Amino acid sequence: VQKETSIVLKGDICYSIDSESVNSVSGGYLVCIDGICQGVFDELPEQYAALQIHDYQHSLIIPGMTDLHVHAPQYSFCGLGMDMELLEWLDTQTFPEEARYADLEYARKAYQTFTDDLTHSVTTRACIFATCHLKATEILMDQMEQSGLITKIGKVNMDRNAPSYLCEESAEASIKDTLRWLNETSGRYQRTEPILTPRFIPSCTDELMTKLSQIRREWNLSVQSHLSENMSEVDWVKNLVPDASGYADAYDRVGMFGGDYPAIMAHCIYVTKEEQNLMKQNGVYVAHCPSSNTNLSSGIAPIRRYLNEGLKVGLATDLAGGHSISMLQMIVNAISVSKLRFRLIDEKEKPLRFTEAFYLATIGGGSFFGKVGSFDPDYEMDAVIIDDSELCKLNQYNIQQRLERSAYLESKIKIQAKYVAGRQLVI
Ligand code: GUN
Ligand code: FE
Repeated sequence: VQKETSIVLKGDICYSIDSESVNSVSGGYLVCIDGICQGVFDELPEQYAALQIHDYQHSLIIPGMTDLHVHAPQYSFCGLGMDMELLEWLDTQTFPEEARYADLEYARKAYQTFTDDLTHSVTTRACIFATCHLKATEILMDQMEQSGLITKIGKVNMDRNAPSYLCEESAEASIKDTLRWLNETSGRYQRTEPILTPRFIPSCTDELMTKLSQIRREWNLSVQSHLSENMSEVDWVKNLVPDASGYADAYDRVGMFGGDYPAIMAHCIYVTKEEQNLMKQNGVYVAHCPSSNTNLSSGIAPIRRYLNEGLKVGLATDLAGGHSISMLQMIVNAISVSKLRFRLIDEKEKPLRFTEAFYLATIGGGSFFGKVGSFDPDYEMDAVIIDDSELCKLNQYNIQQRLERSAYLESKIKIQAKYVAGRQLVI
């Protein structure tokens, strides 16, 4: 038994059983051995009596959350440029800022701020875009590894339709840097993994995509990218790849759309029925980014429909399209935009309930990392301890109500402690 990752947490425990319901245990014991949950108990079973107990008394203990899509380099301009839509925003805000990460001193400082803030959030796992700069990407990976968070991080590939100061010179140059990045980081980390990251179809030639797909196979990597976020973007893809039957097929035809390996597509707002079927068939994850989709006037993804159809869905901040690093805010935003979609677009698509959005933020996205996002036996123990005493002064609430209020009134709570795969982080 590893001492560092074997522990009992005591407190008011709350986690999803399925998307409809949570299990709440007041003053319960969450037992973790070698980073793996053994279960949640009212009384501590005799066999675990020798383990160290961290008693959090009346604080909430919930699973850590997974941010399924976030751009680390964009955190430095978070909250700016919100009057634009995607393509103008990329040209005027995003690309100029990402170019600054060629400067490793700037990258180090900017990435450290992002890493520190993510460490102090409710997020325990994340799938992260860096920039196309391999050295800066390695700095981000080093910092994330150091933080104790478990992440997948991608050096971005982009060899067309970007300004010359940022665009990679050719597909070959992009591939060469990607291989160098993979070789230089291989075997270096325990908590940090590379993930292939072609920015989106408009940024990547077929030649680049085809070569990336080959690297994907050889290195057994997963893939993250963007799909159908904005209507002008979708039209642009049709023009750029006239041979493809649609945006999803533009990825699929070059072997970059899941199937026998994991893939995440952010946004998925304007997806056709055929594309939806392909996503289901290939097990492609939807990273739902409600805050970003609102800020960039992108639209509202049909998450209720995806859940009904059995697609894999998680929540994501998409910083700095989204302006909040907090997955609690994403829970609230996902519910809010689903209500607008229900009321304004299609009353057959019922709004997300709180338990559903909580499930998506924990198990939904967590499942991309394996058995993550629950406290049921065999799950890796990612836990966040929340002091919500400020919210419990006037009236008494049950644990699920306290969780809901903690999400909606996040400024009133404190994150007291955090564990990732059983290991306590310094926060
Ligand atoms: N599509 C391509 N690149 C980006 C990006 O950086 N952010 C968002 N939201 N969408 C994109
Ligand atoms: Fe994004």
